[in-house]
Amino acid sequence: MGRSLTQRLVFLTLVAVLAMEALIFVPAVARFRLDWLTERLAMAQLASLAILATPEGALDDDLERELLDRAGAASIVLRRDGTRALVLSALVPKPIDATYDIRAPATFRSMLDVMVSLNAPEGRHIRVIGRPDPSSLDEVEITLDEAPLRAALWLYAQRIFWLSLIVSLPTAVLIFTLVHFLLVRPMKRIVGNMAHFREDPEDLMRVIQPRSRVSEIADAERELNSLQTQVRDSLRERARLAALGEAVAKIAHDLRNMLASAQLMAERFEASRDPLVRRVGPKLIGSLDRAIALCESTLRFGRAEEAAPVTRRVALSALVDDAGENIFPEHEPDAAIRFENRVPPEMLIDADPDQMFRVFTNLIRNARQAFESAGRGGVVTVEARHGDACAEIDVADDGPGMPTRALENLFQPFRGGARKDGSGLGLAIAHELVAMQGGRLTLASSTTRGTRFRITLPA
Ligand SMILES: Nc1ncnc2c1ncn2[C@@H]1O[C@H](COP(=O)(O)OP(=O)(O)OP(=O)(O)O)[C@@H](O)[C@H]1O
Ligand SMILES: [Mg+2]
Repeated sequence: MGRSLTQRLVFLTLVAVLAMEALIFVPAVARFRLDWLTERLAMAQLASLAILATPEGALDDDLERELLDRAGAASIVLRRDGTRALVLSALVPKPIDATYDIRAPATFRSMLDVMVSLNAPEGRHIRVIGRPDPSSLDEVEITLDEAPLRAALWLYAQRIFWLSLIVSLPTAVLIFTLVHFLLVRPMKRIVGNMAHFREDPEDLMRVIQPRSRVSEIADAERELNSLQTQVRDSLRERARLAALGEAVAKIAHDLRNMLASAQLMAERFEASRDPLVRRVGPKLIGSLDRAIALCESTLRFGRAEEAAPVTRRVALSALVDDAGENIFPEHEPDAAIRFENRVPPEMLIDADPDQMFRVFTNLIRNARQAFESAGRGGVVTVEARHGDACAEIDVADDGPGMPTRALENLFQPFRGGARKDGSGLGLAIAHELVAMQGGRLTLASSTTRGTRFRITLPA
């Protein structure tokens, strides 16, 4: 037997139909045998009734033999009240091989009898006893050769066999056709599509389109469709990120060189006689230092992955001052947008100062940009306090609040950006940097009256 679904189903159908036929075969043949014998008895009775109507002794041997032949019997006995009413018999009586009483209703016994009849040796002579119908007689008894009965039984059995075969063949063909069209073909289509898709998963045209009307197959097609769509999307995303990574590396490389030359020039500020230039100079050099270090770490790690933090005790207030000055370098106390550092001057935290500097600049810059794009003024504040085994630092503003798109994709790279010129990376970077130091960056609140981000750092 083949291993394909169709071959198996056709084979099993044939077996099932033949098994069913085998089950009904024995009772059917037994019934056929009883009917055959009953008919013989009826004919015998009919023949003998004709004789009973004729005067005694008017029957000659030829007529008697003729009557027996017609009834298909070797002898006929009718009985009434236990005595023999009429006996017709052939010239030489044969010995009886078996006696069958068919007055009892068809039972298991009759099924055994038919199996014996079918398999009995040739030339048996049997006696059959039945009840006449309707009559004053008690019973009719005939003897006959078994050969015609056996022949009729075998013929009947063969007919049943061929009939079963004829019934099961169209059934098998029907099942084959149904299975082929409903299952095999859709399955082949799915498998073919999988192979086709594998060759080029990024090709939009290779995603399977659900078509089957069989719900299970349609489910499989739908699932495959969404799987392929997901695979294709994530491949695209990866390709995009890989391209971006390469671009970032190139930018970082050349930016580092430009920053390094800017740094060399800025070092000359120290010699200036202008007090403002002398004050801003070192800060500018510090910023350039950090920028160069960032470019270098990006290049070293080959992708935009952060270096492990180097934690130490740092004065938080000074760090916040640095970041604030970076975003608000103007130093104008009455400007529309102001920065306020409310961190207690003596407060120390355990953190990587370079990374925290980047976190603060991102958060403070976002707040400033929110004011600017809303076209209004306000104040950005940083507050801090020691909590339970942690330090809590809030960067807050009384600006317009976060747009929905930014809220829905909070801290997700590229997705959360709602600014025209933004890349949507700032918050994601800040979030990652805080997490790397064992802390958490959360959005404490954002309403139309302001936004508050909270950094929790372990003490
Ligand atoms: N304090 C804030 N007030 C209002 N909206 C804010 C605030 N901080 C962030 N947002 C919103 O969240 C978005 C995401 O900020 P994020 O810093 O991640 O990206 P970006 O500022 O758009 O781009 P960039 O990568 O240049 O920082 C911003 O576009 C802005 O709409
Ligand atoms: Mg930003």
